[in-house]
Amino acid sequence: MHANGQRNGLGLNLDLTVPDTARMMDYWLGGNHHFEVDREMARKIEKMTPIAPHWAKIQRQFLGRVLRYLWDEVGLRDYIVAGAGLPTCGNAHEVLPEARVLYMDINPVTVAYGKNILGSSPRACYIQHDARDVHDLRPEDIDPLFAGNRVLGVIYVGFSYFFPDDVLTRALSRCYEWVAPGSHLALTSLGDDSLKYAAPSVEAYHRMGFPLFPRSIAETEAILPPWELTEHGVAAASHWGLRDVTEPVPPIYFYGCVARKPA
Ligand SMILES: C[S@@+](CC[C@H](N)C(=O)[O-])C[C@H]1O[C@@H](n2cnc3c(N)ncnc32)[C@H](O)[C@@H]1O
Repeated sequence: MHANGQRNGLGLNLDLTVPDTARMMDYWLGGNHHFEVDREMARKIEKMTPIAPHWAKIQRQFLGRVLRYLWDEVGLRDYIVAGAGLPTCGNAHEVLPEARVLYMDINPVTVAYGKNILGSSPRACYIQHDARDVHDLRPEDIDPLFAGNRVLGVIYVGFSYFFPDDVLTRALSRCYEWVAPGSHLALTSLGDDSLKYAAPSVEAYHRMGFPLFPRSIAETEAILPPWELTEHGVAAASHWGLRDVTEPVPPIYFYGCVARKPA
């Protein structure tokens, strides 16, 4: 990625003194949409918590398994990706090229890059929208893509742990009311074991201006209703949906789950 918005044709004023969480994810995923300020912060985090690059990879692998489950077994064709970051490195439209995917992010720079990356794809688009207010999307924002369908997969991967319980519960329950029965929610949470093993990194995100809200498995279960947790439960994101796991799960502090609005 070039270091200057005008040079890359997006006409954006980028503040290159401030790291961005989506671009740090991209760096850890091996993408090429990051600046020195993002790499520097990512390396600082890695020094404190050497497994940090796996956080991004494990959540992306979880996303891949969940999307294939929702497509193959649940039959969902339309997806909203909340707090989407950069649509690269195994993001939703790459995993499911036949799906219709609406990416949304609050950061205008991320949205501009997202649009640029997607180009004129007929099945994927990117909008700037506060993903806590999915229920506020107007038909004209989404019907060109979803043609009125509201049986949706709503993806909250790499995103839910930026919000305290009350904010997240309100966002999820409003979204539940808005989507049609049969819709599913996929979410990753940052485990409270991160406070034991990765506290300096959690604190570094806080200092960057992105406080994190770790949760125990029980606390993650508690923020879901009225969404109904699927039989997979809240599991280590690295192992969600895998059968016949015999070895102990190494601690990576990220958990994943899928919940539904019953049909
Ligand atoms: C750590 S990145 C994760 C990106 C992506 N979900 C992933 O897993 O790679 C978090 C993203 O959430 C976005 N974000 C934060 N608050 C948001 C909000 N209220 N609405 C939409 N996006 C938001 C940030 O701009 C950032 O791109």
